This record gives sequence, C-alpha cells and structure tokens, in this order.
Amino acid sequence: MPAILEARDLTKQFDLGATQVEALRGVSLEVQAGEFLALMGPSGSGKSTLLQLLAGLDRPTSGSVVFEGRDISRLSDDEATKLRRERTGFVFQAFNLIPLLSVIENIGLPFTIAGLDAGRGELRERIRDVISLVELTGKERHRPDQLSQGEQQRVAVARALVTKPSVLFADEPTGNLDYTTGGEILEALWLTAEASAQTIVLVTHDARAAAYADRVLVIGDGRITDEITLGRRQDHSAAPLIARLAQIGL
Ligand SMILES: Nc1ncnc2c1ncn2[C@@H]1O[C@H](COP(=O)(O)OP(=O)(O)OP(=O)(O)O)[C@@H](O)[C@H]1O
Ligand SMILES: [Mg+2]
Repeated sequence: MPAILEARDLTKQFDLGATQVEALRGVSLEVQAGEFLALMGPSGSGKSTLLQLLAGLDRPTSGSVVFEGRDISRLSDDEATKLRRERTGFVFQAFNLIPLLSVIENIGLPFTIAGLDAGRGELRERIRDVISLVELTGKERHRPDQLSQGEQQRVAVARALVTKPSVLFADEPTGNLDYTTGGEILEALWLTAEASAQTIVLVTHDARAAAYADRVLVIGDGRITDEITLGRRQDHSAAPLIARLAQIGL
C-alpha cells in the first residue's frame, strides 16, 4: 500500500542574520494509513520543525513532502490553509480554545469558519460523535474556564477530529498536563487510532506518550537516528520502549 504521507530528504535551515540553524539535516520517512507514529527526541532536535513540514504549514529548504499522493512542500499560504481546513487536524501543547465559546461551539468552529451551520444535520451528529469519543458528553454547554485542563485539551482533540482529517498531527499535546491528565489525552488519541483507524503523528519527548504509538522514530540533531517498532498493543506500558531506548544508548 502506498504511504499516506512521505518525507523525502527534508532539510530546513533558519537564517538568523549572520548565523544559520540547521534544524533538519535530511529526513526521510513514510507513514502508512491508519498508523500511529511517534516522533521522539530531546528539546531542539527538530521535532516541531518536522511536524510543521509534514503538515504543509511550513516549507522545507530542500526535499519534499508527499501527502495523499500530492507534493505539499511548496504550497501557497492559501493552499496551506485549505489543506489544514480540509485534510489535516492539529493539536498543540496550548489548547487554543476560544474562551467565550462553549464546548460544542469550539468543536464546531472549523465548520462555522467555513460558513456552514454546525447546529444541524450531519455536522451536528459529527460534533456529538467526537464529544462522545473524548468523553465530554454532558459538558457541551461549558465554557473552557469551566473545564479542567485535561477536559480542555480533549475539546482541542475533538475539534481537530471533527473535520475527519486524513492525518491528525499532535505536538506535545500532554506537555502542559500532569501525569494523570496527560494519560487521558493519550487514551483519547489511542482510541481514535483504534476505533476509527485515524492516522496520527505525535511529537513528544516523553517515552510514556510515545509508548502509545505503533512505531517510534527517534530524532537527534535534525536526523532520524533510530526506528523502534512496537506494534499495536492494548497495553501501553512504557517499559518495552524504555528498554529499547536504553539498548541504543538513549
Ligand atoms: N523560526 C525559527 N527560527 C530560528 N530557529 C528556529 C526556528 N524554529 C526552530 N528553530 C531552531 O531549530 C531547531 C529545532 O527546533 P524545533 O522547535 O524543531 O525543536 P523541537 O525538537 O521541537 O524542540 P522542543 O522539544 O523544545 O519543542 C532548534 O535549534 C531551534 O532553535
Ligand atoms: Mg517542539
């Protein structure tokens, strides 16, 4: 089966006046449809840069990204916006919810922005389904300040999923959360991978989060240094991943 997402020899340099930062130094990877992939590495290793390129939100210095058979590495801003609205979903470390809107309105925002009526018919059903998936049924009318941190992040996950993205990208989605609350988010992501074969690319520096993935790519200094295949498991204990990381000296 062809990959749903493919990176070919990506490099990214940032110009900072007199100096340059080599954030990515030649990254190639493939993501299969339905796969849950984690990109793991220390701070500054290039994870967020890579995720932005994979999602078509930024352009590489060289190399290409092929998403659903189409080269997305040099999109115009308008094309990138269209891709983000229609084909991809994004969850960030900060929840980025609109404070004055309820749970249901925040989740319906992608439709409202597109000029659609999120309160009726199929769209309303879809909003209800994702609310149920992230276990927020009963809290539809709450505003973000009336929710716990974990509930707020689950709203952000639901909002990213409601458009039925072909790939869900998440950049440190548990980074601002305590251990238990972070676990809720990881369970919600895993459930979408398992129940609806959602393709997920998760960036994390945390082995516990990466242990939910089917496969882990380790990134160091702008390169993929190791690949660890865990396979789909019901048990998300980080112990096997930590043992493999120890074997390769991480
Ligand atoms: N817009 C930018 N301008 C200049 N340098 C940048 C920019 N974005 C990232 N960098 C640099 O590129 C390198 C990789 O950054 P990146 O944000 O991808 O790392 P990361 O692995 O996501 O780190 P973290 O875990 O801290 O989020 C770093 O040296 C960073 O300082
Ligand atoms: Mg980052």
